Order: sequence, then structure tokens, then C-alpha cells
Amino acid sequence: MYTRAIVRPPAANFADGLTSVDLGKPDFAKALEQHTRYCTALEQCGLTLTRLPADANFPDSTFVEDTAIFTDRCAILTRPGAASRAGEVAGIEPTLREAFARIHTITAPSTVDGGDICQAGNHFFIGISERTNTEGARQLGEILATEGFTATPVDIRDVRGILHLKSGIAYLGDNRLVLIDALADHSAFSDYEVVRIAPEENYAANCLRINATVILPAGYPQFEATVHALDYSAIVLDMSEFQKMDGGLSCLSLRF
Ligand code: GLY
Repeated sequence: MYTRAIVRPPAANFADGLTSVDLGKPDFAKALEQHTRYCTALEQCGLTLTRLPADANFPDSTFVEDTAIFTDRCAILTRPGAASRAGEVAGIEPTLREAFARIHTITAPSTVDGGDICQAGNHFFIGISERTNTEGARQLGEILATEGFTATPVDIRDVRGILHLKSGIAYLGDNRLVLIDALADHSAFSDYEVVRIAPEENYAANCLRINATVILPAGYPQFEATVHALDYSAIVLDMSEFQKMDGGLSCLSLRF
């Protein structure tokens, strides 16, 4: 059960953040509205929110997920791989210190973005990407082992169209993974039931199972039908402005 989440709304210079997609410039007012709906959805799932203020020093700072990894045993402060985002971690740390008794820290030369880390029960998949380096995957794996977790690295540097591992994977609980085609046959996931995303719906792989509900992005009817067929209650959210900045549902919160 998740009970809490940390969120931070986009700042007015949100459009100055990093993006690798060519979907146009985000509309700030619309992004704020979508963020408000996102927060309401988390509350509908039973979460109490810690709302951090917008931070224009870091245009990507609404994507709080990249700054930390939360488990039921500890939190881990990351070291984001994009230089423009490195300072975001200091902004999240005081909130973590209030919430977690034990906090680990990723250190140089390691880099880790939280978006590359997918927890599936007591196991973690660690994406090696443009943001999370092999040293980061190794260091994080060691930290997780000290806390009694297992981990598998998954190299996504040759997988086209995904920034982070969680752009292409989500854990729904009950040994069930949502996976894009390019990851579906990877040996790391062979022990799981796989919900395969149709290639034209790849963005929907970044969905969120929060307690009894799956939150998924609007515009992906095949995946939405699958979520209903699997008997989850569903909340569908328009994520268009965040998608333009390479962000998805998981990126906008840290949940614990
Ligand atoms: N815009 C999200 C990121 O590139 O980190």
C-alpha cells in the first residue's frame, strides 16, 4: 500500500527543460492544469501529498521521480545523469530526511536517474541508459543488496524511443509487468506475466499502479481496454504537455 507521495508543479520555464521528442512546445497553463488533475488522481488513490513549490532554477524539476528511489526500508538520493538536473537532488533531500530514517546516496562517478529504476516487489530492474551509467547501476545494486533487495541491470542504450527504463516498463504487482515490444522478450523479464503494449501505444507503458487503481495516460484505447479487462479500477489522465518534455506519469511523483 502506498500512503504518501511527493510532487512539485512545473515552473513557468518548464518548456526550457530537456526533451528528445519533437512534439512541440508545452503550454504552461495546460501543464499546470494537467498537474493539478494528476495530484487529484493520486489523492483519489488514497495518497497524502507533500507539495513542494515550483522551482524555476530547474526547468525539469517537476519530474521529481528522477531525484530519489524510495523503498519500504530506506530512501536513496540519486545523482541525475543530465548536468542541468544535478541540483534537483538538494531540493528534495530535506523532505526525504523527514520521511526516512535511513538514506543512502549515489556518489560520483555514478549517475542514476530514478526513472531508470523499476521496483517489482523485492526485486529492482535498473536501466542503464543515457542517464544511468554502468557504475551507477553497480553502486545502486550494492546499496539495494545491503537492504535485502535483489537487482538486475537492463541495458536500454540500444532501445530506440525511450529515455528511461520506465518509459518502457511498469510493474502492476502480482508478478505482472507492462512492457513495450522492444523489452518484452528480454531475459530479465522471463519470470513475469507480461502485458505487451502495442507499438503505437508505447507511451502508455509508463503507467502507475497505485493501490487498487491503475493510472494511465489518455489516448491509448488498447491498453485502457486491457486495464479494464484485468479488473483494475482505472484513472485516465491527459499527459500531453508532459509528454512533450519526455515525461510520463511515474516521473511526476515519488510514492511511498
Ligand atoms: N525532461 C525530462 C528529462 O529529460 O529528464
